[in-house]
Amino acid sequence: MRLRSLKKVDIGIIGGTGLAAMLEDAEHVRVGTPYGLPPPISISKINGTPVAFLPRHGVHHSVPPHMINYRANISALHELGVEQIIATNAVGAINSNFKPGNLVVPHDFIDFRSHTFYDSSPVTHVDLSQPYCPKIRFTLIENAKKYSNIWEKAVLACTKGPRLETPAEIRMFKQLGCDIVGMTGVPEAILARELEICYAPICFITNMAAGMQEKLTADEVTEVAKKVVPVLEQILRETVKNLPRERHCLCVQALKEARFRG
Ligand code: HPA
Repeated sequence: MRLRSLKKVDIGIIGGTGLAAMLEDAEHVRVGTPYGLPPPISISKINGTPVAFLPRHGVHHSVPPHMINYRANISALHELGVEQIIATNAVGAINSNFKPGNLVVPHDFIDFRSHTFYDSSPVTHVDLSQPYCPKIRFTLIENAKKYSNIWEKAVLACTKGPRLETPAEIRMFKQLGCDIVGMTGVPEAILARELEICYAPICFITNMAAGMQEKLTADEVTEVAKKVVPVLEQILRETVKNLPRERHCLCVQALKEARFRG
């Protein structure tokens, strides 16, 4: 394992539950950051494009959601030169049309926490009018359709975890317009935007949210993940192949008008 790669990598994939590895013949690197050490990142090529794969929960799924060092993870991918990140997340369904095993590309989110690289001056307020990169979302949806049905819009409620929600919390999220609930889909989106990196996730539903089925178990999440992940990997490969390298979206200039001038 090398301490650091000097190669520029174009695309990052952050794998969530069930997806701790997917690149063949990868070089494994540790990238130190001012925020700490992220899990080992594997670097390889998909169809000639250099891709960095970061397992969000660590290689052996040992990092629980509330302990994920999101700043280190995004900072490390930035350090490698990554300009576009595709992520995967396991989520519960709040919208009763969505079912376990379904794939969803959310377009918006709710998260009441603060996630930022900018704790001091210049005070920085990034615009999240389009919370996820529209170009990655479009490419994900178009390529997912080749392999699966896909829900093309959803509002994600993001909690801290690691506990699951109560039925009352899910009813509240439903009233707020949320369709899915997960523990990891938001901090990365905000932090990526703060570094002008394009970011969008593809989520898979592992269960109906609390109060919508009798009980929730970790095994259920693992079982659905096992079934969905092979399809997800295909979709990710195809998306990387077809994702245009040039960036014309607003993510590229997220800091241009974000700095408070007083
Ligand atoms: N809630 C939060 N996170 C989740 C769930 C859920 O129901 N299912 C999978 N991840």
